[in-house]
This record gives sequence, C-alpha cells and structure tokens, in this order.
Amino acid sequence: TSLKPFNTFGIDAKAKHFVSVDDIEELKKVLSLEDYPNKLILGGGSNMLLTKDFEGLVIKLGFKGIEVIAEDDEFVTVKVQAGEVWHDFVLWTINNDFGGIENLSLIPGNVGTAPIQNIGAYGVELKDSFESCEAISIASKDMHSFRKEDCHFGYRNSIFKQEAKGKYIITSVNFKLTKKNHKQHVHYGAIASELEKEGISTPTIQDISKAVISIRQSKLPDPKVIGNCGSFFKNPVISKKAYEQLTENFPDMPSYPVSDDDVKVPAGWLIEKAGFKGKTFGHYGVHKNQALVLVNYGGATGEEILNLSQLIQKTVNQLFGIAIEAEVNIL
Ligand code: EPU
Repeated sequence: TSLKPFNTFGIDAKAKHFVSVDDIEELKKVLSLEDYPNKLILGGGSNMLLTKDFEGLVIKLGFKGIEVIAEDDEFVTVKVQAGEVWHDFVLWTINNDFGGIENLSLIPGNVGTAPIQNIGAYGVELKDSFESCEAISIASKDMHSFRKEDCHFGYRNSIFKQEAKGKYIITSVNFKLTKKNHKQHVHYGAIASELEKEGISTPTIQDISKAVISIRQSKLPDPKVIGNCGSFFKNPVISKKAYEQLTENFPDMPSYPVSDDDVKVPAGWLIEKAGFKGKTFGHYGVHKNQALVLVNYGGATGEEILNLSQLIQKTVNQLFGIAIEAEVNIL
C-alpha cells in the first residue's frame, strides 16, 4: 500500500501491510497480531517524514465522534475520538461557541496525535484546554487515563515523546472549554494586526478563528496543494548570555523570553539568514513565506528532504553555533 495519501508531506513510501481500525476492540485485536511484530501507528500523518518503505503493519486510527460529557454554567467537557481531524473539531467548537482552541485553527493532523507534541500556535497550546486522555497500552492492551498533570506538557513536548514514547496509543481526548467569558489571546502580533485590518475591536472567538485561518493561509502552504509538515524544526532555546553575544554580530536577531536565563530564537529567522528561504532543489525545498517549513512540490523522496534538513542544520550551526532540532518524526 502506498502511504502517499496518509502523510501530509506526500511521500510515496510503501507499507508492506496496512489496516484501518474504527474502534478500540478492533485495535486490540490488531495489536495482538503476533505475525506482525513491526507496527506503525498512524494518525493524520502530519508530523512525520517517511524516509523509506515500512516493512511491517501500518495501523491507521479511524475512531470518530465528538460528545459533550459534562457541563455547568461556565464550562463544558468534550470527549473527542482520536481519529477526528483536528481542524474539523476546532470548527465544531467555534459553531457551538465553545472557547479555548480558536487560536489553534487550521493546524493539520488528528485529535489523537495533538497531545503528543502539545500543538501550539499564536500564544495558545493544546495543554491550556486539555483535561485528560485515554490511551491503550501497546504491551498489555489495557486502557489508561492520563490527567493533564501526568502528561508533562512542554513546548512541543509531552510524556508521549519522552518516557511513554511508543508505549501508548491515544484513543480519545477530553477538553475543557469555556461556554462564556472566553479567555481570548489576541496579543500575538499577527492576530492583533489581522483583527485591526478587519476593523474588529471586540473580537468573538469566531473572529479570532477567522483571523488565524487567514494568517496561516497567507504564510503556510496548504498540505493538500504542496506537501509539508508545518514547522520542520523546533525553535531552539539558548541561554540569554549566548543570545547577547550573538546580537553583537546579528543585532536584529529576534527572541522570546522562556525563563530568567533562557530565550527562544525563531528557527525560521536563522534559516532565512542562512540563505535557505524560498530555495528550491528540483521538486522540494524551503517554503518562500516561512523558512521553518520544508516542502515537497511533488515526487520528492523522504531521504532528499532529510538531506536538505541536515544541510540546513549544519549551515545554521556553522553560522550561529545553534543546533536546531527536527520537530517532525523521522521514520
Ligand atoms: N521569521 C523569519 N523568517 C521566516 C520565518 C519567521 O524571519 O522565514 C521570524 C518572523 O519574522 C518572526 C519570528 O521569526 O519574527 C516568528 O515567526 P512566526 O510568528 O511565523 O512563528 P514561528 O516561531 O516561526 C511558531 C510555530 C508555528 C506557529 C507559529 C505561530 C514552532 C516550531 N512553530 O512558528 O507552528 O504556527 O509559531 O504561533 O514553534 C507548526 O508547528 O507546524 C507551526 C506552523
């Protein structure tokens, strides 16, 4: 089976065996198949680079459903199955006027994979509305519930990328959303100017979602048109001291505070300065509007994109002495 339709990079890698599962019982059965020791779990395929064919069984999670499981005057708890498309769920919350994830509009991928890297954009992260998730243990096939504090969420990070990596499959996620007095995050530069451009001074969550969609559409390539996985790299965190030294040579280097001692530097800026923004190498390259995003114009192999990413890492390191790390999973 070609995995091309199942990864947003549009890489034409093949899976020896492929199965789509629609519920937990089916998943348990498939996980117990001992003839297939090598298994790969696939959600939306929006955060992976396939560099070779997969000689095992690919399991695509198809669980669907969105349901309100608790509510009071102010809050609602919504249980969402892992196979729901993230942005479809965001639109559902917007239509129901439930607040909390409007800034996360249009992020590619599925609900079940969103907690793994604690997706975030425009001043909001998944963890801000996350209540708990259910996951199946791959070894025991038992169900486990992870509360927010169990998940150790950080910037593009969680227990599912650390201690629990490869051990669980998230089957559903509970979100706690606001029914009124929505806590809005509109101070992120691009959102503020987009709202101003539209003449909106007291935005609704619907307005914020629209603004985010419009910003993303102007900067980020649509994976349905040009293969990509969003940010290919994480923004590196460096010490304030190192940052101050760098600004002697690069006075316009942007930074965001992360702690008393450290700052985060936008990798997109470093990659642009290293000369890669908009560069194409045949059928792949670096996006012209956001240097953090590597793109497949059609027909690129995962290996080609991996090589490009390594060249970028090396060049950025030589120029700034900063190691940038891939955000996508390389398989
Ligand atoms: N910048 C450049 N050149 C570029 C790209 C960015 O100089 O090619 C500079 C910008 O001028 C700005 C700064 O870098 O000063 C930050 O840029 P931007 O607001 O676009 O955000 P980012 O840090 O590059 C992060 C996330 C995005 C998310 C945006 C908005 C990471 C790795 N990426 O990008 O997430 O949409 O913030 O909140 O943290 C994703 O993870 O797939 C993703 C798209």
